[in-house]
Amino acid sequence: MKKTISKASSFFGKPIIPGDKSISHRALILGALASGKSEIIDLLESEDVQSTASCLSKLGVVFKTEGKRTIIQGIGDSGLKSPQGVLDCGNSGTTMRVMMGVLAGSSLTATLVGDASLMKRPMKRVAHPLRLMGASLSLTSDDYAPLTIMGRKIHGIEYELKIASAQIKSAIMLAAISGEGRTILRGEIGSRDHTERLLPHFGCEVNVTPQKIEIEGGQKLTGNVLKVPGDPSTAAFWIGAASMIQGAEIEMENISLNPTRIGFIYALQKMGADIETEVTTLSPEPIGKIRVRFKKLTGVVITKDEVPGLIDEIPLIAVLATQCEGVTEVRGAEELRVKESDRIEAVALNLRSMGAKIEVFHDGFRIQGPQKLIGADIKSFHDHRIAMVFSIAGLVAEGETTIHDAECVAVSYPKFYDTLKELTNHEIGERS
Ligand code: S3P
Repeated sequence: MKKTISKASSFFGKPIIPGDKSISHRALILGALASGKSEIIDLLESEDVQSTASCLSKLGVVFKTEGKRTIIQGIGDSGLKSPQGVLDCGNSGTTMRVMMGVLAGSSLTATLVGDASLMKRPMKRVAHPLRLMGASLSLTSDDYAPLTIMGRKIHGIEYELKIASAQIKSAIMLAAISGEGRTILRGEIGSRDHTERLLPHFGCEVNVTPQKIEIEGGQKLTGNVLKVPGDPSTAAFWIGAASMIQGAEIEMENISLNPTRIGFIYALQKMGADIETEVTTLSPEPIGKIRVRFKKLTGVVITKDEVPGLIDEIPLIAVLATQCEGVTEVRGAEELRVKESDRIEAVALNLRSMGAKIEVFHDGFRIQGPQKLIGADIKSFHDHRIAMVFSIAGLVAEGETTIHDAECVAVSYPKFYDTLKELTNHEIGERS
C-alpha cells in the first residue's frame, strides 16, 4: 500500500499516544512468567507486541482482553509448555532476543523464526552471554535465526556489555532469574531500563547502580497490575513535526518520560525547540505531559554517549537537520545499520531522493541545513520507522511524497496515518 503526503499548512491537536512498545513486550513476558494474575492496562496493540503474545500463547500462557485491560494468567511454578511448531517473532527483534533469555533456563526446546528482516539481524550478541551462563543454542551461521534453544539449568555470570542494547541486557537478566547464583552486568548498561524497573514491580529484587546491575538467580515473579504509558518514540514523530511546521502546537498526556528514552527531547531542546515536559507519576515508570510549539531550530552534534537514549529517533533527527540552521552531526550510531533496515542507508537514500545532501559515515551522518525537500518516492524498506519518518518529511516538502509499503507502520503504530490526518487536517492519499 502507498500513502501520499503533501505539505502541511498547520499542525495542531492533542493526540492520544498508544502504549509504549518496549514496556508492552516486557509487561506481557513478566506477567506470563509470574505466579497469579496480572492486569496490563493500555497494552500497545501492534504487530510487534502481537508477536510476543503469540509466542507466549504457543508456550501455554493464557491471555484475555477486556477493553483496555489485558489479563494474563501467569504460569508461575508450573513452567512454560513445549510449543507445537516454531515460535514466529515476525519483525520484532525485542521478541526474539528477550525470548532467547526467557527460554535459555527453561526445560523445553524451541525454535525461533522471524520475517526476512529479522532473519538477517545479529543474534550471537545474545547467544554469547547466554552460552557463558551454560545455555545451549544453535544459530544459523552462528549468528542468525532460525535458532533453536535447548533449555537447561543455567547459572549466573559476571559480564561486561560491549553494546548498549536493552534487548541483550534484558535477555541476560531474564535468564539470570531462572538460573542459579548471582549475575553482575557492567559496561554499556545505560540503555533503556524498563526491565530493571519492571522486575521489582513483579516482585523480583534487582540492584542497579551507574556502574553495575546485580541480580540473584532463583527469584520468583508475582503477578501485578501495570498501566503502560504512551510511547515516547511514537510521540517523537509529532514532536518532530510540530518543531518544523510554522505555527504548530501540540499537547500529549500520559507519555513515558523515562530519562533513558527521551534523549530525542533533550536533543531538540539543545537545538532550541520549544518543548515543555511535566512528570505526573514517578513509579515504576516516570509518566507525564509534553507540550510543543513551533520554533526555529539550529543544528546539533550527537555523540556516542547520547545515542542509546535516542537510537530509534535518529532517522527523525536527520529530517529535522534539513530544516534547521547549521550543521547536525550524529556519530557512534553504527547500531542503526542492524535495525529493521540499515537505517543510515535508508535515511541517506530517501533524503537524497528528496533533493537533500547528506554525508554518510559508517556510524552516522552530517547534514548542513537548511535545505529544501522536494516530494519524492520513498522506499520504506518495510521498516516502520523509515515509513513514518519520511511521512513527516513529506509535511515540509514541496509537492507530493509517496511512501511505498506504508502498511509496515502497523509494526508499532497502526493508527499513524489516522492521527497524521487529524493533526494536519488534511486527507492522506492511499493507493494499492
Ligand atoms: C528495544 C531496544 C532497542 C530499540 C528497539 C526496542 C527494547 O534496541 O532500538 O526498538 O525494547 O529493548 P537495542 O536493544 O538493540 O538497542
